[in-house]
Amino acid sequence: MSLSVKHLLGIKDLAKEDIQTIFSTADNFKQVLQRPIKKVPSLRDTTVANIFFENSTRTRISFELAEKRLSADSVNFSAAGSSVSKGETLIDTVNNILSMKVDMVVMRHSASGAPHFLSQHIDASIINAGDGTNEHPTQALLDAFSMREKLGDLKGKKIAIIGDILHSRVALSNIYCLQKLGAEVLVAGPPTLIPKHIEALGVAYTYDVKKALAWCEVANVLRIQLERQNKPLFSSLREYALYYGINKDMLDSIQRDILIMHPGPINRGVELSSDAADSKQSIILNQVENGVAIRMAAIYLLSGKAIIE
Ligand code: CP
Repeated sequence: MSLSVKHLLGIKDLAKEDIQTIFSTADNFKQVLQRPIKKVPSLRDTTVANIFFENSTRTRISFELAEKRLSADSVNFSAAGSSVSKGETLIDTVNNILSMKVDMVVMRHSASGAPHFLSQHIDASIINAGDGTNEHPTQALLDAFSMREKLGDLKGKKIAIIGDILHSRVALSNIYCLQKLGAEVLVAGPPTLIPKHIEALGVAYTYDVKKALAWCEVANVLRIQLERQNKPLFSSLREYALYYGINKDMLDSIQRDILIMHPGPINRGVELSSDAADSKQSIILNQVENGVAIRMAAIYLLSGKAIIE
């Protein structure tokens, strides 16, 4: 069991078989995580550096837990409080960390392409934990894994991705992942937050969120990323919530249960109301739970180590 890639930089680079290998490995690790002792000794000779140049709650804790569950050693680096503020470059920073006998790098960066650039300059395997507006591969894997857990094979399943598509690395990775698995993808949101030429990716689009909800089996709702908007792209958060936000009344009006997902963090009352986020249709916390097994699988498969014990 191994992947066709040395690094996990994006879903774009993965074959369908890689995704299936990650899922079957994550299935095994999910069973490990149900045991009283939620740990395997697989990577006790491996050290992973979690290098975060951008804020994170879920991804960072999930990677750190995944490493601990695999018995790997891990070190955590945040750009805030580091020598980056003194002008140290990305490559110097990472090479200094690697010289302390670190085997693998998990990196989040606000610049799209930063992990791809780094991969050309270091030998260690890199896992992209989110780069700018480009990709967030482990998020897409845990999203598709969570859908598969509820719906079975995703071939032919109708998945809507709703919200700020333009600034979302989660949207792009989800589109690549779901298409490789044979799902139909529709994106929805305000015209200013849907990228021009989105059809070139092979997805349909609508500006009508209610139509998207009526069409889909799963609605993956995305955060409005105000921090990535240099100029406002809609007039107010209140107006966004009124015209594009999803609430429980809208879900009830469909008269069949669709799954509600969100990668987090949620802007409650903007893209998703609390009664929808906390409804029985929501699998948001299942996504977070599955993130640990998916990240264990990604780290384990890239490490090239032995079978699960
Ligand atoms: N989903 C996600 O990437 O969340 P964090 O930014 O908290 O890691």
